[in-house]
Amino acid sequence: MDGIKLNDGYIIPRIGLGTFRISPQDAEKSVEYALRNGYCMIDTANVYMNEEAVGRGIKSAGKPRDEFFLTSKIFPNAFKNFSKALDETLERLQVDYLDLLLLHRPYANWKKAYQDLLEAKKAGKVRSVGVSNFTVKQINELVALTGVAPAINQIECNPHCAKIEFQKEMDKLSVATQSWFPFNGGDKKLLEDETLVRIANEHSATVPQVILAYLMQRNVIVIPGSRNPEHIQSNFEAQKLVLSEQEMLEISALSKGNGHGDFLGSLFYRFTPRNYYEKK
Ligand SMILES: NC(=O)c1ccc[n+]([C@@H]2O[C@H](COP(=O)([O-])OP(=O)(O)OC[C@H]3O[C@@H](n4cnc5c(N)ncnc54)[C@H](OP(=O)(O)O)[C@@H]3O)[C@@H](O)[C@H]2O)c1
Repeated sequence: MDGIKLNDGYIIPRIGLGTFRISPQDAEKSVEYALRNGYCMIDTANVYMNEEAVGRGIKSAGKPRDEFFLTSKIFPNAFKNFSKALDETLERLQVDYLDLLLLHRPYANWKKAYQDLLEAKKAGKVRSVGVSNFTVKQINELVALTGVAPAINQIECNPHCAKIEFQKEMDKLSVATQSWFPFNGGDKKLLEDETLVRIANEHSATVPQVILAYLMQRNVIVIPGSRNPEHIQSNFEAQKLVLSEQEMLEISALSKGNGHGDFLGSLFYRFTPRNYYEKK
């Protein structure tokens, strides 16, 4: 598999398919379509409530297990027994191991949950361990506690919240940066940004392709979400687009904030029943 080498030696593809806010029916079709059309990475999470459908999509695509990279996420506050929660995740996805398991947010007893993740890695149920939406301070605390830096921090990152300095801090810790919300969830203000439209026109490309190329050129791993086969295909083709240094600087200059912060996570925290998955 072609991609970026993580701090534990595993390779992660530069682009994958995200499945947040995608119904089980659409997730199944999109995952199958993506894997049949060049994608080698799928990103899901317990809380997206589509893992079973993602598992069915993977099965229908028929790609050998060692030819795609599968990520799921678990909320540290959403289980009583980590090992059971992970086994149920694997069962829903119909796989023996995950390539990457992320702690979705630094909630509840996230330090203990990280130690549980490392145990799962030792047991072979998870290849790489990572975190999502963690601060530099929190990652330093995990390293001080366990001596092991997460392979990845998945964070909100797009041209309007570019997180360049934050990525430098992650690089210093050998933690790869993965972007969620590359299109700010499909935000028109971003997709119609005049600088991005101009650069896209100059390359006969689309704005989503320019955004993905910009992130990938920064070594940020991307997982754009889509239920539309044409979008899934054209997002994948962003890998062919090469932006100039000047264009990279112009896009970085569009950054104007830190995005949604904890808003989305706190909604999940409040509204997902704590033991939903253990009951199933
Ligand atoms: N760790 C976290 O806390 C966290 C939080 C949020 C998301 N995530 C992960 O990150 C992934 C990406 O984020 P996201 O899916 O929420 O948002 P996103 O990728 O920024 O945007 C998805 C939206 O963009 C549209 N879109 C996709 N490709 C397009 C194209 N080529 N042209 C026009 N519109 C396009 C999609 O519509 P169509 O369906 O019509 O293509 C969808 O409405 C998620 O799927 C999930 O796996 C993680």
